[in-house]
Amino acid sequence: MLSTAAKPYIDASVPVLREHGLAITSIFYKNMLEDHPELNNLFNMGNQANGSQQQSLASAVFAYAANIDNSAALAPVIERIVHKHVSIGIKPAHYPIVGKYLLGAIKQVLGDAASVELISAWGEAYGLLADALIEAEARLYQVSGFGADTWMKMMVVNREQQGEDIVSFTLKASDNQIVPDFKPGQYVSVATYLDVIKLRQLRQYSLSDAPGKNSFRISVKREIGDEFKPEGMVSNWLHQHVNVGTILDISHPYGNFTPDINAAHPIALISAGVGITPMISILNSIAEQNPERVVLFAHAARSRSHLSHDCDVKQAQTVMKNLRSALFFNEMFEDSEGIYAGRMNLTELVDGKLDNAEFYICGPQAFMDDQWSALVELGVSLSNIHREVFGPESLNHLI
Ligand SMILES: Cc1cc2nc3c(=O)[nH]c(=O)nc-3n(C[C@H](O)[C@H](O)[C@H](O)COP(=O)(O)OP(=O)(O)OC[C@H]3O[C@@H](n4cnc5c(N)ncnc54)[C@H](O)[C@@H]3O)c2cc1C
Ligand code: HEM
Repeated sequence: MLSTAAKPYIDASVPVLREHGLAITSIFYKNMLEDHPELNNLFNMGNQANGSQQQSLASAVFAYAANIDNSAALAPVIERIVHKHVSIGIKPAHYPIVGKYLLGAIKQVLGDAASVELISAWGEAYGLLADALIEAEARLYQVSGFGADTWMKMMVVNREQQGEDIVSFTLKASDNQIVPDFKPGQYVSVATYLDVIKLRQLRQYSLSDAPGKNSFRISVKREIGDEFKPEGMVSNWLHQHVNVGTILDISHPYGNFTPDINAAHPIALISAGVGITPMISILNSIAEQNPERVVLFAHAARSRSHLSHDCDVKQAQTVMKNLRSALFFNEMFEDSEGIYAGRMNLTELVDGKLDNAEFYICGPQAFMDDQWSALVELGVSLSNIHREVFGPESLNHLI
């Protein structure tokens, strides 16, 4: 618990951090990675370059300060960070390094306003947050039985094009060991060494099939570049270099976007683009274990040729009589059975059949924000809406 001496300094810093947070975390990353270049192998250089990582850590620090007395609001945020950290292999020894550079950056940006008392209060607050994360991460490492440095060598046994931009890879343990179990909706980290930047890079990919097959399947969208942004490093590397027989380093599965597959209440799986991947794992699992369940599968794609995992949905339809599939295609002008032209509109789909349903959303940030607002307007309770962000969570809703 935060000391009574430190609390007023933390309370007073919320507006200050809000104003300077991004500058603080940008300086923090720059200084830390200059002095500890080995950490470049842990951090995501794509998210560094597009700024989302700095924004995320800044938000986590604000969120902590803003909610220091509200552990209920912090709990899901901490759970997400813990799963992400463990999938990357963060160790207790990393925390003092991050703490040192974070406090150093606060001092540097606030200048004279960074009194000894304020820095000491933040040192205490950081220590408490770090202890909570370290403890929860140790528990998760223990449950998975994987240490921070354990990576599975897995061999690609199938490669399949899934629409225009997405390729799925099926992976088996290269030494024929048993592949760990996972919960539908979880992801793995994939470690690749990129010659161009001479760094190991880690990316997360949701598992895109049901568990219990002694294999993992991931489905990767190639992030194409344009005049404003370079092409994605790892997704393009995977598309260009990974074929049947390639061996990849894969983490244990983690993640907390995991509905109860066997529950009786209805469930709505709402996705766009490559956000379909966790939904397919969830859908295939329900088809196997709970096929009577009422399920809405709503998915938005640019066009028919961009649609991925169509076979999985068609296969699920053969065994799930209460499955309703609604596909939205942006580049289409006329509706037909189960297929809608234009952007996703949930208004007519969320009807009495979905009373008490849980809603799971995954896709680009703007898509998730739209569907979230639509569901709230339709009267769905916030506690029944869950989402997976395919990048660092911004946490702005907590600030
Ligand atoms: C929990 C989770 C699950 C995920 N599941 C999946 C999945 O199932 N399938 C999937 O395909 N992806 C998934 N992702 C996303 C995936 O982890 C990668 O982020 C994605 O593949 C892009 O990685 P990359 O290395 O190709 O791109 P990066 O090189 O990391 O670039 C990321 C983005 O930043 C842009 N960028 C890079 N540099 C700059 C710059 N200087 N200025 C502006 N923009 C820049 C790039 O153009 C690109 O759009 C998931 C992510 C998470 C967190
Ligand atoms: C109290 C301390 C810390 C806080 C509050 C914190 C917070 C966060 C947050 C909010 C994310 C994004 C999670 C998401 O939504 O995906 C994240 C990811 C990450 N953290 Fe931490 N973290 C802390 C300590 C550390 C330490 C000690 C390290 C190791 C050096 C570390 C390395 C990383 C990495 C590599 C990522 C993934 C980045 C990405 O994929 O873009 N963090 N952390």
